Amino acid sequence: MRHAVLAFLLVIAFPLNAKTPPAAAIASAHPLATQAGFDILDAGGNAFDAAVAVAAVLAVVEPYSAGMGGGGFWLLHRASDQHEVMLDARETAPAAATADMYQDEDGTVVRDWAINGPAAAGIPGQAEAFAHLAAGYGRLPLADVLAPAIRIAREGFAVDDHYRKLANYRKDALNRFPQARAIFLTNGEVPHTGYLLQQPDLAGVLEAIAANGRDGFYAGEVAKKLVEGVQFNGGLWTLDDLKNYRVIERAPVVGSFRGARIVSAAPPSSGGVVLLEALAILDQVTDGSTSEADFTHRAVEAMRRAYRDRALYLGDPDFVSMPLEKLLSSDYAAAQAATIDARRATPSDSLGDPVTVQQGNHTTHLSVLDMEGNRVSATLSINLPFGSAFVPAGTGVVLNNEMDDFSAKPGVPNAYGLVGSEANAIAPGKRPLSSMTPTFVEFDNKVAILGTPGGSRIISMVMLGVIEALKGTPPQQWVSAPRFHHQYLPDRVHAEPSFVGGELAKSLRLKGHQVDSTGRPYGNMQAILWDSAAGTVQAAADPRAIGKSKVRPTRPRDLP
Ligand code: GLY
Repeated sequence: MRHAVLAFLLVIAFPLNAKTPPAAAIASAHPLATQAGFDILDAGGNAFDAAVAVAAVLAVVEPYSAGMGGGGFWLLHRASDQHEVMLDARETAPAAATADMYQDEDGTVVRDWAINGPAAAGIPGQAEAFAHLAAGYGRLPLADVLAPAIRIAREGFAVDDHYRKLANYRKDALNRFPQARAIFLTNGEVPHTGYLLQQPDLAGVLEAIAANGRDGFYAGEVAKKLVEGVQFNGGLWTLDDLKNYRVIERAPVVGSFRGARIVSAAPPSSGGVVLLEALAILDQVTDGSTSEADFTHRAVEAMRRAYRDRALYLGDPDFVSMPLEKLLSSDYAAAQAATIDARRATPSDSLGDPVTVQQGNHTTHLSVLDMEGNRVSATLSINLPFGSAFVPAGTGVVLNNEMDDFSAKPGVPNAYGLVGSEANAIAPGKRPLSSMTPTFVEFDNKVAILGTPGGSRIISMVMLGVIEALKGTPPQQWVSAPRFHHQYLPDRVHAEPSFVGGELAKSLRLKGHQVDSTGRPYGNMQAILWDSAAGTVQAAADPRAIGKSKVRPTRPRDLP
């Protein structure tokens, strides 16, 4: 009963067929971030301002997932002119990077170099993304938008159980680097729940960005501290690497499933391409009459084939040419669909060469809708929990270990037993292949905004979320439905504990699939649904973590 009341409170109903949403909505991975986004909307900001405010607060209160030392992908829709773009703020390899930089003299990949310490860090994109969004899309000064994050960094936030779990996972790495140890641990131990974690150095970096835009981070005192910290500890960054970093506006990838228009992240994220390819294959072999068991088998087979193409073809579009037109064509989907046996699992090794995907492990997502109809779906990352666990002295900035999303050596597994191909080899200035999948879905006078963290499972999670949305279920269902995943190799279905013991898992096993439990739930999806015909907005944060969604009217200043 209590759940029913809560769900009801999240639906704001207004007159039918409104051209603009009756309420704004934000779903993010932390209540303080969602609140900051609404504070900015209340102050007259739009969805782009609010998204920056949310991301900046997440950089403070989720130091394990994303932040000023990382990057990500921002999918934007501007209502006034229907402008649709993906802001690529992915990290770049420093100019001195080499294809074999994580291999020892015998050619053996030294995993520690690729995941711990400053040598694992790419040049961050987040600060430039903030400045770019504020200058090109927002309505408020960047200083106003960053104010909530600066305040929380200075005054502190209460450590929660989610923080404790992730700090514990990376405790050894955090203890290796004195700055990180001093900020994120107490006497080398994970701080207790409720501990007030203050980050004055990080507040100073955010203030520099607030005062000087991109130059507050990529030039001047902050840049000097970042580069000194990295170089003194064996990393390759230079001041020129920071000066030369640029975000890139790219056209998102667009496809369809069951008549819905799906807009998602373009390379160097593999997310959109794999999502659209898998859905296009699934569209060929299912319809409204397909049983749930058959649908699940075919969804697994579609994932298997699309993830294989990820590993074979995808990388940074500025460095490799990719057959995107072919991969996203209906002819190709039909040819792939024709290889699916409706009764039996297809062994992955029967499809060709054994290649598979790199994956990151910790990331965050935020979804924003304002009352003008502007939308943001942004997935941001520093890769592993607490990234490289390295903080350059005097900055409070946790550097990413996104370099591990490259193939350190084609054919050699990364930290997760996964290998990659030449398309994703390391090169100076190149962006590592990502799985981040910020997505919009447009169908039946409705707009869905969704995404999630979760490494290589991001794409299959968003795929299942899109399928749920198109069933007409509310966002609460998209974010909480049991999850299953196949990524070509290893050749098995990985599924949440709530899925593995059920009838659908049994039906997969009967068709020859190996179905293994992930041992714990995964993902942290943040979703919004605007139904313009019904005049409703709903939002939901994944119940697996501590995120918060909120829907309420907050009228942009210059709207009547
Ligand atoms: N580092 C996570 C991803 O980009 O997929």
